[in-house]
Amino acid sequence: MALLNSSRRLGLSLRSVATPAAARCSSWWSNVEMGPPDAILGVTEAFKRDTNPKKINLGVGAYRDDNGKPFVLPSVRTAEKELVEAMMDKEYAGITGLPDFCTMAANLALGEGNRWVQDGLNVTTQCISGTGSLRVGAEFFSKFFTGPKVVWLPTPTWGNHIPIFKHAGMEVQHYRYYDPSTCGFDFEGAMQDIAKMPERSLIMLHACAHNPTGVDPRPEQWKEMSSLIHKKNIFPYFDMAYQGFASGDCERDAQAVRQFLDDGHCIALSQSFAKNMGLYGERAGAFSLICSDKEEAARVMSQVKILIRPMYSNPPIHGARIVSKILGTPALKQQWLGDVKLMADRIIGMRTKLRDGLAREGSTRNWQHITDQIGMFCFTGMKPDQVGRLTSEFSVYLTKDGRISMAGVTSGNVDYLAHAMHQVTK
Ligand SMILES: Cc1ncc(COP(=O)(O)O)c(C=O)c1O
Repeated sequence: MALLNSSRRLGLSLRSVATPAAARCSSWWSNVEMGPPDAILGVTEAFKRDTNPKKINLGVGAYRDDNGKPFVLPSVRTAEKELVEAMMDKEYAGITGLPDFCTMAANLALGEGNRWVQDGLNVTTQCISGTGSLRVGAEFFSKFFTGPKVVWLPTPTWGNHIPIFKHAGMEVQHYRYYDPSTCGFDFEGAMQDIAKMPERSLIMLHACAHNPTGVDPRPEQWKEMSSLIHKKNIFPYFDMAYQGFASGDCERDAQAVRQFLDDGHCIALSQSFAKNMGLYGERAGAFSLICSDKEEAARVMSQVKILIRPMYSNPPIHGARIVSKILGTPALKQQWLGDVKLMADRIIGMRTKLRDGLAREGSTRNWQHITDQIGMFCFTGMKPDQVGRLTSEFSVYLTKDGRISMAGVTSGNVDYLAHAMHQVTK
């Protein structure tokens, strides 16, 4: 009505005011090509379209309970209730997020009472979960790293590592990590490739529960890697998206990070609370750099802030408040440690059941890697054509590389899965 009145006042007919199709803006984006769909989200789309009641989605990297349902941790529910009751404000956090969150996140990774946090050598900033933390890290390295602007990633690695670093202007190279012939860690290959890296390189290491393979170095192998990396003056960057999720024990899963620090490395660290607190959509994570002295830490922190401010100004507060509440309240922390263990144990239990199921089906293949591998994912060793059959004949959905998310395996579907896997691999 208001539009009609004002157009009459101006002596215009409504026809000339409304935008007819012919007057639509000419295209500015005809140069933009259709991009490929995301590999993992594509699996979920195909799963949703399938009407088979036995269908299983083993593509997504999110924990499910034994009924296949999303799981909100009881400790998270309690923390959230307390936060709501505290009627807190919704003011902006600072550029680097909530200070308590940053300290507690760093302490969780480095160990309670560790000297790096105590001496103020850590530059820790709250980030938009693990991905955002890696992106801030990649930007920092792209701008300030004095070694070659190349990141060395394991083969294979979490798919997003590659574009995260490339978008930040870093080059990407790969070192050997997974041995398809053993479905295990290629320790010799990794050591040989590290030995060939130029001095002052940047290496990305998965702190625990390597994604997508579920294959981690053993403690003594970490030790040897640490000493070679130190000898070559290579900078280690740990991606820690699964602390507690691998073994069920947050201390044990931090062993590699702590080993490197004890060996005298300055490290970079990306943490996510998506998996270990089930805070996927809350986007709570942290990026840390361990510096050689306090003065250096202050300089680095000032530049981290300058990088973040034009990116997203400051991070979201709710997820970080949940994390701080849990880690800062002894009883809640205890409860949370139990929640993490419950998730890890369910997954470990499913690994055994899947392996037993395959044996019962009569499979003569060696499936030991299913129980040797750790964390959310199992790199089954199935080939793309076998994966294709698993999907088309049995409605089991997974990525083409043969990776299954163990979180999607339940008491109700594990036998069906074992049957299907045997049928396509016998
Ligand atoms: C190895 C690795 N790093 C980082 C992430 C980041 O996850 P988010 O951004 O959800 O915290 C993931 C998630 O799957 C991962 O597997």
